[in-house]
Amino acid sequence: MRKILVTGALGQIGSELTMGLRKIYGNDNVIASSRRIKEGHEDLMESGVFEIVNVTDGKQLAEVVRKHKVNTIIHLAAILSAVGEEKPALAWDVNMNGLYNVLEVAREENCAVFTPSSIAAFGDSTPKDNTPQDTIQRPNTMYGVTKVAGELLCDYYYHKFGVDTRGVRFPGLISYETLPGGGTTDYAVHIYYDALKNKKYTSFIAKGTKMDMMYMPDALDAITKLLEADPSKLIHRNAFNVTAMSFEPEEIAASIKKIIPEFELDYDVDPVRQAIADSWPNSLDDSAAREEWGWDPKYDLDAMTKDMLEKLKIKLGL
Ligand code: SER
Repeated sequence: MRKILVTGALGQIGSELTMGLRKIYGNDNVIASSRRIKEGHEDLMESGVFEIVNVTDGKQLAEVVRKHKVNTIIHLAAILSAVGEEKPALAWDVNMNGLYNVLEVAREENCAVFTPSSIAAFGDSTPKDNTPQDTIQRPNTMYGVTKVAGELLCDYYYHKFGVDTRGVRFPGLISYETLPGGGTTDYAVHIYYDALKNKKYTSFIAKGTKMDMMYMPDALDAITKLLEADPSKLIHRNAFNVTAMSFEPEEIAASIKKIIPEFELDYDVDPVRQAIADSWPNSLDDSAAREEWGWDPKYDLDAMTKDMLEKLKIKLGL
């Protein structure tokens, strides 16, 4: 039976994944952790064990793993791309030392590890369209540097120590439960909030900038599917390209307009986040994930827009 520790459990992915995993594996078998308590997550903190864990503190992390006899670590605690450019030293510390501590305790306690990489693991010299699984990875953001190094470190722990490491390169993730914290793809989340509240959104990403995206239910499905995938079928491990759609601001706006016809989009481009977006792929080739563990996303842009607007409307009490 799996005994799972989720780091960053109160973040955008963790808050939904933890509850999803508790349904599959049982409340007592999924330990949520975060470096601090956050308001608004009472259900999560009360539905099972919750521990304070700062992943940069290897001793604290190891104590929690041993205390609960954890055998699977889903490591989500990380600094995202835009914050990483503001605070590169912090991004290195949390993303690299955090992952190193996770891998070390996994080696000592024989745990499996899942941790996400990102489209940020690619850079300007990567082929932009239909970006292959195995290609040039020379990112120019600190976040991207930590993601590539993290992929390599996870591969190293698998080959050298036999730690069962697995990961995907997530695109921008769109969800209504918890806001993302300081990413470049966040515009595609904020646009839905503003569409409902103000019928208008000012995008910090320029017209024509395509990026890969995915609705959260598909992202959760990717994690649970890869976690349980037959290891004999995995040629790759860290990390699989996965995507569900690729769009630019005008296309998501057009999708919203089908439901809110008066919605308007304008632009006030942030040069830092635009430069990051310009260095990332337009669209990923995720055939390796499809072939090796049956990746099969359910939501396209319009299906996501419909569900997002319905769910957010209820959440915002509109
Ligand atoms: N959504 C992330 C970001 O924008 C990409 O991994 O930073």
